[in-house]
Amino acid sequence: MKILVTGGAGFIGSNFIHYWLQHHASDRVVNFDKLTYAGNLENLKAVEKNPHYQFVRGDIGDPEGVAKAMSGVDVVVHFAAESHVDRSILGATPFVLTNVVGTQVVLDAALKAKVQRFHHVSTDEVFGQLPLGSGEAFNEETPYNPRNPYSASKAGSDHLVRAYHATHGLPVTISNTANNYGPYQFPEKLIPLAITNLMEGKPVPVYGDGKYVRDWLYVTDHCRAIDLMLSKGKVGETYCIGGLTQDVNNLTLVKKIIALLGKDESAITFVKDRPGHDRRYAIDWSKAKRELGYQPKHSFDEYLESTVHWYQENQDWWQRVKSGAYQQYYREQYGNR
Ligand code: NAD
Ligand code: DAU
Repeated sequence: MKILVTGGAGFIGSNFIHYWLQHHASDRVVNFDKLTYAGNLENLKAVEKNPHYQFVRGDIGDPEGVAKAMSGVDVVVHFAAESHVDRSILGATPFVLTNVVGTQVVLDAALKAKVQRFHHVSTDEVFGQLPLGSGEAFNEETPYNPRNPYSASKAGSDHLVRAYHATHGLPVTISNTANNYGPYQFPEKLIPLAITNLMEGKPVPVYGDGKYVRDWLYVTDHCRAIDLMLSKGKVGETYCIGGLTQDVNNLTLVKKIIALLGKDESAITFVKDRPGHDRRYAIDWSKAKRELGYQPKHSFDEYLESTVHWYQENQDWWQRVKSGAYQQYYREQYGNR
């Protein structure tokens, strides 16, 4: 089988390529990626000489490049996106161009190539926010209510994917997934930002009162869920994929990381809140469990500890990522903290 992975040089995409080549060694994987600030071929060093792996640099907004990469492809797993909420608040244009227009370009090419499956990787953020302490969780029937430019652009892409299925019969599946964490995550996101700032002796910026809740999903569990959706998922269906956390708020999470690193809680710095900050996310993944046999493998605390170890053992990786343009972004987002 030949599988086209868009955005395979990013955090989840590169973890997925490693996962796929380990579990489906006879398949061929094409990684189509623009290499934006978030794309990093260092994540894929271990597979770059694998004859079953090919990298193609390209923009999903370019119909010619995408059509070329789609040649002979059986399955598309579509990760490529602008993924950071704070950057979408600083400027929404790349989010609409890549997440909405780019997705439509990939859909057109997939339709023309008559692929067997188009899997679209989306987010739980399209559902909006849940009240703190309510016990409610998002599921496949939850109405869309995106509240920031990133989630609005992902909602647009989800609607296009469903429309290509209903109108053109493209064989799609969609996942709406919780906050991922693990190796190779760009340190603009809370967990790698907190770990690496603490290791550098810098403060950890916590937005607002810190009582915001996310559902945390270890990246390898997510990759396994995509594998299950490709093999057992029903065409046209959506699956919500989450982890094993039970309402761990950001402040508690940062304190767990501080304890794992043996640092001091004085590193916590409360900063101005994110505009439109969604209070709480939680995912009901019972459909994926029932229909696909999906189940996270380890507890949040176990995965968090191994994630902290990964950043301890891979300092070169994140130190390189945090130099250059990252510094400029950090100053724009956080001032001179
Ligand atoms: P990321 O920002 O780490 O990586 C995105 C990748 O896409 C990068 O390699 C980048 O170079 C590439 N890319 C961006 N624009 C492109 C374009 N125009 N053409 C080709 N490639 C382009 O993102 P991530 O965290 O790995 O997220 C991957 C996908 O999963 C996204 O669609 C995101 O919305 C979704 N998702 C992420 C999370 C999460 O917690 N990270 C949770 C749910 C869903
Ligand atoms: O829910 C899935 C989404 O999770 C994905 O679709 C997005 O691509 C991914 O970026 C992530 O979005 P969040 O906005 O939830 O992730 P982030 O790591 O940016 O923030 C997690 C929480 O931590 C959120 O409540 C904001 C807070 N935060 C974040 C940063 C970067 C802070 O308090 N301080 C920070 O410096």
